[in-house]
Amino acid sequence: MKARVFSGVQPSGNLHIGNYLGALKNWVIIQHDYESIYCIVDMHAVTVYQQPEELRSKILETAALFLASGIDPKHSAVMVQSSVPAHAELAWLLTCVTPMGWLSRMTQFKAKAEKQETVGDGLFQYPVLMAADILLYQAAIVPVGDDQAQHLELTRDVAQRFNSLYGDTFVVPETKLPTVGARVMGLDDPLKKMSKSEPGAGHAVALLDPPGVIRKKILRATTDSQPAVDYSALGPGVENLLNIFQAFSGWADGQMQSHFSGMRYGDLKKQVAEMVISHLEPFQKRYHEIVSEPGYLDGVLRDGAARVSPIANSTVELVKRRMGLYVPS
Ligand code: TRP
Repeated sequence: MKARVFSGVQPSGNLHIGNYLGALKNWVIIQHDYESIYCIVDMHAVTVYQQPEELRSKILETAALFLASGIDPKHSAVMVQSSVPAHAELAWLLTCVTPMGWLSRMTQFKAKAEKQETVGDGLFQYPVLMAADILLYQAAIVPVGDDQAQHLELTRDVAQRFNSLYGDTFVVPETKLPTVGARVMGLDDPLKKMSKSEPGAGHAVALLDPPGVIRKKILRATTDSQPAVDYSALGPGVENLLNIFQAFSGWADGQMQSHFSGMRYGDLKKQVAEMVISHLEPFQKRYHEIVSEPGYLDGVLRDGAARVSPIANSTVELVKRRMGLYVPS
């Protein structure tokens, strides 16, 4: 049997080239080697307030971007978290075995809570819901960025604690984060990972940005005070631009060096922009085809949920039995 992979993306903010190069592209490559489930985690999104209309459209947009990236819904289950109620059910059961102390150490909770006037309890429980997402499917592999490492560690701790309290129930997912492609940094601040929740207009190139916007953002990217590319002393901004070019073009290191050594930053930026645009154009065309086919996306999501539901339901039933809850015979 193939090992199972599970990963999730929140349908908030705009997916950008960092999400594509660092995650989606890798998911597409591994989808044939594993039994893969890719989930749009809308219940995680509502741990902070979301405009309902906007959330509704972002869920479909995110699903369409998964497919435009090359995730094949015949191989991988593409599904929305809230359409499989077992996620919420298992989250509650796991909440009962998760010490509050573990949750209060989560750095992402502290960072997000600081920005909220009132902090919903869901934001505190966020990592338990994430653990439920993963453990529900007995996923062995969870391809996520290193910003999720602490949540993944908590998932392991919760699984182990449950297993020791009630007997072997959950597969404990690997901690080793699979290498997930390029790590793309913010264009405006190359020391920070490119992020969906960064507000700055020049921070990220969104996957759906039109060519003119992409050009403008890349031409304004932060570099350093040198005039031209010097491979013996690359600043973080220039290195980031070169990484983006290399990740899209697939060029070898030697080819990169001989082409870009000594190139003025203005020319480098123009070439990076054109490389990004040439890859995003066909991508955006696929996206528009997907969203303009009536009923197609809904069908994919319905099918994804239907395929994973039996796995999810049988895990919840097992957990209930283990804990002594009533399961009708
Ligand atoms: N917390 C993850 C993020 O913000 C999203 C997520 C929710 C997730 N559930 C998951 C990722 C389960 C992997 C597996 O990136």
